[in-house]
Amino acid sequence: MLSQQTIQIIKATVPVLEAKGVEITTVFYRNLFQDYPQLLNIFNQTNQKKGRQQTALANTVLAAAKYIDRLETILPVVKQIAQKHRSLMVKPEHYPIVGEYLLAAIKEVLGDAATDEIIGAWGEAYGVIAQVFIDIEKEMYEEAEQRSGGWADFKEFIVADKVKESEVITSFYLKPVDGGMVPSFIPGQYVTVRVKIPGEEYLVNRQYSLSAAPNKESFRVSVKREKEPNTPEGRASNYLHDQVGVNDRIALTVPAGVFTLEAEKNKAPLVFIGAGVGVTPLMSMVQSIAKQEPGRKVTFVQAAKNPRVQAFQNELESLEDKLSDFRLTFVYSEQMGGEQNDKIKQGHVDEEFLRNLKADADSEYYICGPVPFLKAVTSGLRELEIPDEKVHFEFFGPAEAIH
Ligand SMILES: Cc1cc2nc3c(=O)[nH]c(=O)nc-3n(C[C@H](O)[C@H](O)[C@H](O)COP(=O)(O)OP(=O)(O)OC[C@H]3O[C@@H](n4cnc5c(N)ncnc54)[C@H](O)[C@@H]3O)c2cc1C
Ligand code: HEM
Repeated sequence: MLSQQTIQIIKATVPVLEAKGVEITTVFYRNLFQDYPQLLNIFNQTNQKKGRQQTALANTVLAAAKYIDRLETILPVVKQIAQKHRSLMVKPEHYPIVGEYLLAAIKEVLGDAATDEIIGAWGEAYGVIAQVFIDIEKEMYEEAEQRSGGWADFKEFIVADKVKESEVITSFYLKPVDGGMVPSFIPGQYVTVRVKIPGEEYLVNRQYSLSAAPNKESFRVSVKREKEPNTPEGRASNYLHDQVGVNDRIALTVPAGVFTLEAEKNKAPLVFIGAGVGVTPLMSMVQSIAKQEPGRKVTFVQAAKNPRVQAFQNELESLEDKLSDFRLTFVYSEQMGGEQNDKIKQGHVDEEFLRNLKADADSEYYICGPVPFLKAVTSGLRELEIPDEKVHFEFFGPAEAIH
């Protein structure tokens, strides 16, 4: 337990650190990777370059510090991060290293303002926060290993099939090399894929949502090739598209993540809204519903630039025969020549579109897509006074504030 005095110091210094948060974590990562380059086998270097991970860690340490005397308030956030940590094999022995470098970075950035008393208090607070993560992650590691078909660490999978879904998205069907069973997972979860790209010094880890309902045959992940003008091409996705074929191997950890249908236990109507490759976790969810509750009311909105880059169109249309109360809409952002109707629309998923959906008031929403899309859809739903607890969403990168 922290003393009242320590708690007071922490709360009094949070605003100072908030102002310098990103500066502190930038110094922190620079020094950490200089002294422990092997950690580059875990961290996503692109997120580092874009500053996204710095913001995520800084925000969380500070949020945790604000609630230091009632950490249970931020438990859902801790669980989401802990799932990501577990899927990347972050271990208890990493925490003291991160703690040491974080305190050193606070000292370096604050200079004389960082008195021994302040550093001592933050050291204690970090210890408490780290222990919360370590304890939760311990349970998660045990569960991952003990679940039926589960395993510890990374496990080798073989590409059993590779299927082009659109101009930019390709699916990989994966089976354990050891012939072991394919474990079940909760629809909406992702796996961390680890690849060794020839010529690169460090391993590359990326998360991919499982894009088919749980089944005994295989996992399916569906990967968008990241290649935009004027930016370096995506490392893992281009490697997977170009270099990984049938019979090749990649390593995975046990499925993880809290963006799941299970979180929602009632029989309320479901509204799925996905954009681009963000449709992947929703595919697993809607397929599971079709198998298990074919009478459930489901609305599915798939946004894409155009039909050429759209994946799973046929797969979604085939659900029209399997779900008895199913409404499917494709929304294309680019101008199209053809006719528009109830199913095919041109435009964006904005407030007006959401209003016109006329979804039942008790609907639960599951949303996934790029951050600007998440912002637009969640703020549209807020305008329509849909309670936040009915709106579930997933980020394809480090979580960030969207309101
Ligand atoms: C929970 C979760 C689930 C996910 N599910 C899926 C999924 O189902 N399917 C899927 O395709 N993806 C998914 N992702 C995203 C995936 O993990 C990868 O982030 C994605 O494949 C890009 O990885 P990459 O190595 O190809 O690109 P990276 O090398 O990481 O680059 C990412 C982007 O940044 C750009 N970039 C690279 N370097 C720079 C730089 N220095 N400055 C500016 N821009 C730069 C690249 O052009 C690219 O567009 C998911 C992510 C998460 C967190
Ligand atoms: C109390 C201490 C820590 C806090 C508060 C913290 C916080 C976070 C947050 C907020 C994220 C982003 C989660 C998301 O994807 O949405 C994250 C991701 C991550 N964390 Fe931690 N973390 C802590 C300790 C550690 C440690 C000890 C390690 C291991 C060295 C670690 C490694 C990672 C990695 C590798 C990621 C994924 C980031 C990426 O590759 O982009 N973290 N952490």
